Amino acid sequence: MRNKYIVQELLAEITKELSPFIERASREAQLLLMAHLHKDELWLMMHRNQEVESLEELFSWVERRKKSEPFEYITQNVSFYSEEFFIKEGALIPRPETELLIDEVKKYALNVDASLRFAEVGIGSGIISIMLALYYKNASFIAVDISQDALDIAKINIERFGLADRIELRLGSLLEPISEDIDYLVSNPPYIENGIELESNLSYEPQNALFGGTIGDEIIKELLDEVLKREIKFFSCEFGYDQKDKIQNYLEDKKYKNLDFYKDYSDFDRGFTLKAKI
Ligand SMILES: C[S@@+](CC[C@H](N)C(=O)[O-])C[C@H]1O[C@@H](n2cnc3c(N)ncnc32)[C@H](O)[C@@H]1O
Repeated sequence: MRNKYIVQELLAEITKELSPFIERASREAQLLLMAHLHKDELWLMMHRNQEVESLEELFSWVERRKKSEPFEYITQNVSFYSEEFFIKEGALIPRPETELLIDEVKKYALNVDASLRFAEVGIGSGIISIMLALYYKNASFIAVDISQDALDIAKINIERFGLADRIELRLGSLLEPISEDIDYLVSNPPYIENGIELESNLSYEPQNALFGGTIGDEIIKELLDEVLKREIKFFSCEFGYDQKDKIQNYLEDKKYKNLDFYKDYSDFDRGFTLKAKI
């Protein structure tokens, strides 16, 4: 690899490098180059013959991508709900279906001006609490994660959005670090069954963000117990596509049926909201 190319040659070179390792190599080459140059699609189209240089970082990205490292970790950027967030290894890469969890909360907490007290368990990169804080301008948040790495990444995003005065981070498990009264609990907890073999790119993501226990829904059930014990008014939660019946049965055993489920973009069951009987 040289240190100077014109754009179209460079794209062809990166595509050739990536092709044996990943699908859609030519598209990935464009995306990597755009991220490296901080340019958009239009710029790329209009500057096919532009000379570019200082490409060491770009070629190091190509090497990492060849080993299936996720694009978002390499470029340290991820889009979620039309906003851009910092991301790196140590926090889960936000998934598009989690946008539906935000919409779910908006369906129940109708007064956008209310001084609601939210809690989030498993904040990861911060996307959920941040998007809700941008929408509910008078709400305050306590956000917990068991991983200090995740909290460090969330802190960077919270500061970028200027929300440090309304989103407080706490290290710990589930609701243990929270003794205050809470109006609304939201969570996208780990919910995959332990030991399930995952695609190779998922090996880069924190395993405690993915696996939820021997069955997979243990953390969700612990959260449900806490919500009922503390009489938290609303709890919106994402879950796995095959967990609806288990959650429904668990709550029926407790004679608690104030429960709505929602589906994702592929029409799979994806989560629920539990409302206290108030
Ligand atoms: C599926 S990720 C969700 C991250 C982020 N909220 C999102 O939606 O992209 C789950 C998060 O829960 C955290 N976590 C796992 N077990 C936990 C526990 N017992 N208590 C608190 N957080 C936990 C993980 O570290 C991870 O950040």
